[in-house]
Amino acid sequence: MGSAHDKCRVVLAGASGYIGRHVAMTLVRRGYEVVAVLRPGGEVEFSEYRLDPALSGCDVCVAPVTDADAVARALANVRFDAVISCLASRNGAPDDAWEVDYVANRNLLAAALHGGASRYVLLSAICVQRPKLAFQHAKLAFEQELKASGMDHVIVRPTAFFKSLAGQVDRVKAGKAFLVFGDGTETACKPIAEADLADYLVDALEDPAMRNRVLPIGGPGEAITPRQQGELLCRLAGQPVRIRCVSPRVFDVALGLLSPLSRLLPSLAAKAEFARIGRYYATESMLLWDEKSGAYDAAATPSYGEQTLSEFYARVLRQGIGGQELGAHKLF
Ligand SMILES: NC(=O)c1ccc[n+]([C@@H]2O[C@H](COP(=O)([O-])OP(=O)(O)OC[C@H]3O[C@@H](n4cnc5c(N)ncnc54)[C@H](OP(=O)(O)O)[C@@H]3O)[C@@H](O)[C@H]2O)c1
Repeated sequence: MGSAHDKCRVVLAGASGYIGRHVAMTLVRRGYEVVAVLRPGGEVEFSEYRLDPALSGCDVCVAPVTDADAVARALANVRFDAVISCLASRNGAPDDAWEVDYVANRNLLAAALHGGASRYVLLSAICVQRPKLAFQHAKLAFEQELKASGMDHVIVRPTAFFKSLAGQVDRVKAGKAFLVFGDGTETACKPIAEADLADYLVDALEDPAMRNRVLPIGGPGEAITPRQQGELLCRLAGQPVRIRCVSPRVFDVALGLLSPLSRLLPSLAAKAEFARIGRYYATESMLLWDEKSGAYDAAATPSYGEQTLSEFYARVLRQGIGGQELGAHKLF
């Protein structure tokens, strides 16, 4: 890539999402020209994007990214130097995951290659290291295509976002117990703030050392278990520490019922996948996986950024959860 500040133009897909919105603001702040791709009828209406503080500094291109011809047509007359993709299935259902995490990225990559763009930065996820879910396989399939495409790329695999750890703020504030799976010490993550991750993704456009690499990344400080999250949140909320354990077997029971039924009723397949997603997050850490030792390695999981979970919890306790909702991904 040329210098970051010679008006490099970046196509940003997934610009209306949790991370995408912060990437849009970071790009504008750092002097990039941004073309935010929004889908027709999506979360942000074209007619209103200028009123949206995250997107007001961007140009907008409205295109259904899951349609290869439509994307090619929409971007044919747009000059751009790089792509950052923060696209993600909003619900993780298998069909949607393949359409968004794989097909839409493949369509954008084709348009980027055709348009002569010189770098593609992909927001992926650390959990693809141990793939068991449809969305993980879809992400991995695109990662492979991106690596094989000849396009300069950076694949960023973050650990948990702050929003993924914010689902119980209101219940703890109301004096209820913090819920954990198992005893709350069997998994851990190194959560990262959306603004810090956005900075890292924009660094990936500029930094030659990040070129053509797969980069797992977490936030600052030590890894934290769900039990430690509960203790921290209760303390900051001024509540006695109350942790209630839930067996992750609830997901096995749900799957025992849903899996055979979904063979007869395909409409239940998505529900079975949601139970698999729940079981995955209840039992797997969001840390670097060490193949040799067959275990997650907190110390080897890289850190980036400034914002801590403690500061984040204090802020949402004060200001409310607005903007940190998990939507279909909420477990508790
Ligand atoms: N949550 C975590 O802790 C975590 C941790 C590590 C990695 N990740 C990964 O980070 C990525 C981004 O997460 P996020 O929370 O920023 O996602 P998000 O808020 O759900 O945003 C998803 C984006 O993709 C767009 N999109 C979804 N379906 C689409 C479709 N059919 N056509 C066009 N656009 C579509 C959305 O557009 P609309 O606004 O129009 O719906 C939105 O801009 C995901 O890949 C996730 O797996 C998440």
